[in-house]
Amino acid sequence: MHIKIKQTPEKLGVLIPGLGAIGTTFIAGIELIKKGYSKPIGSMTQMGTIRLGKRTEHRNPLIKDFLPLNKIDELVFGGWDIFEDTAYDSAKNAQVLSNEHIELVKDEMISIKPMKAVFDKKYVKKLDGPNVKKAATKYDLALMLMDDIKNFKKANDLTNVVMVWCASTEVYIELQEVHQTVEAFEKAMKENHKAISPSMLYAYAAMKLGIPFANGAPNLTVDIPAIWALAKEHQVPIAGKDYKTGQTLMKTIIAPGLKARLLGINGWFSTNILGNRDGEVLDDPESFKTKEVSKLGVLDYILQPEQNPDLYKDLYHKVRINYYPPRGDNKEGWDNIDIFGWLGYPMQIKIDFLCKDSILAAPIVLDLVLLMDLAKRVGFHGIQEWLSFYFKSPMHLPELYPEHDLFVQLAKFKNTLRYIMQEDMITHLGLDYYDDQLRDKDKE
Ligand SMILES: NC(=O)c1ccc[n+]([C@@H]2O[C@H](COP(=O)([O-])OP(=O)(O)OC[C@H]3O[C@@H](n4cnc5c(N)ncnc54)[C@H](O)[C@@H]3O)[C@@H](O)[C@H]2O)c1
Repeated sequence: MHIKIKQTPEKLGVLIPGLGAIGTTFIAGIELIKKGYSKPIGSMTQMGTIRLGKRTEHRNPLIKDFLPLNKIDELVFGGWDIFEDTAYDSAKNAQVLSNEHIELVKDEMISIKPMKAVFDKKYVKKLDGPNVKKAATKYDLALMLMDDIKNFKKANDLTNVVMVWCASTEVYIELQEVHQTVEAFEKAMKENHKAISPSMLYAYAAMKLGIPFANGAPNLTVDIPAIWALAKEHQVPIAGKDYKTGQTLMKTIIAPGLKARLLGINGWFSTNILGNRDGEVLDDPESFKTKEVSKLGVLDYILQPEQNPDLYKDLYHKVRINYYPPRGDNKEGWDNIDIFGWLGYPMQIKIDFLCKDSILAAPIVLDLVLLMDLAKRVGFHGIQEWLSFYFKSPMHLPELYPEHDLFVQLAKFKNTLRYIMQEDMITHLGLDYYDDQLRDKDKE
């Protein structure tokens, strides 16, 4: 299939609902990298390479040289938050980066002032703030968001914009009738239906204006048929949900390895302490439920207990998150894994991950910004399953199961990049290196 990629824009707008720990760590990081204080560590688009063709060809370009992506100094930032703090004040408040680091980019950070948010305390019970829009209906609020987006584009002379959700985790919402069609969804917005959360209004505004939307939280947001239909109608890529950082990143690295070696697992107990605003929001049982559902699916899909009952059918999987203010953003995640091997003999694995969540999330935001715009320019629309690599709970068509194994996700990701750039897929078969007949056939 021939793929025509639209030209890379001169500048790329990045709109971020939620200028909190992740949002400001991402922006400050980009500004620091632009000034040469660091390399974009953790970013696949900036530091990753991709093998092309046969191993004998030695073609391994950097992904950023392979794909027609914007450079990081072509990004222009804007965002919304329920607090009036500039990105500079918010970064200081989040305490992820040192003051020394933040001061180096003070001028750039102070110029980013959040627009008034669409927010309702009913959906994030532990938060409240003054910088919030008011209107009679949810539909009116969505229209106000569309005006914000249009003004941002105009003020910065932008053709292309991407929206990346970095705001809080909302209370758990089940898929309902009002989410099924665009008509039902719009009617529900006009009637202030409670199943329409603020994040859905941002997503609706983005779809209507053809702006790709990536969902960094576990919220339902773009994972509903009404938004899928809008994404199709307006040819917009959507991706989600919940950035794959911290403990779930570890899980999707370790579980595929244990399964590959056919080691059984009886139990996997995961607990966390964290003290940032995200931890405070997740201290509310209804927001925690949204996160819990997102975190729990991982092992079932990787281990496939129905196909491997002797090894995984009795697996007890538990995830806890405890809000513990002294830790701030420096989360500690413990995993106790009870495994068994030959003749059923038991063994244990203990992991104690002292991680910095936002440090792990920021490069994901960067990659999603660049790749979602590329996806749009390539003509991809709807769910971008090839970006599952970045998410805890990857979006997928209802008839498919999600792919959680990090290494399968990576292979899918890189093959999609090869597909976009019309390079051969890599199957890792490699028999032709050893078999003259196969090699000659390959040349024909
Ligand atoms: N930190 C991680 O590694 C990680 C990993 C996966 C997912 N997440 C998710 O990413 C999101 C952001 O995490 P964080 O650590 O930056 O949290 P944070 O609390 O520091 O930042 C969230 C910001 O969003 C704002 N906000 C809340 N509702 C809003 C709305 N409706 N509109 C605009 N702004 C709103 C809050 O005021 C806050 O400033 C959370 O949903 C979190 O669960 C985080």
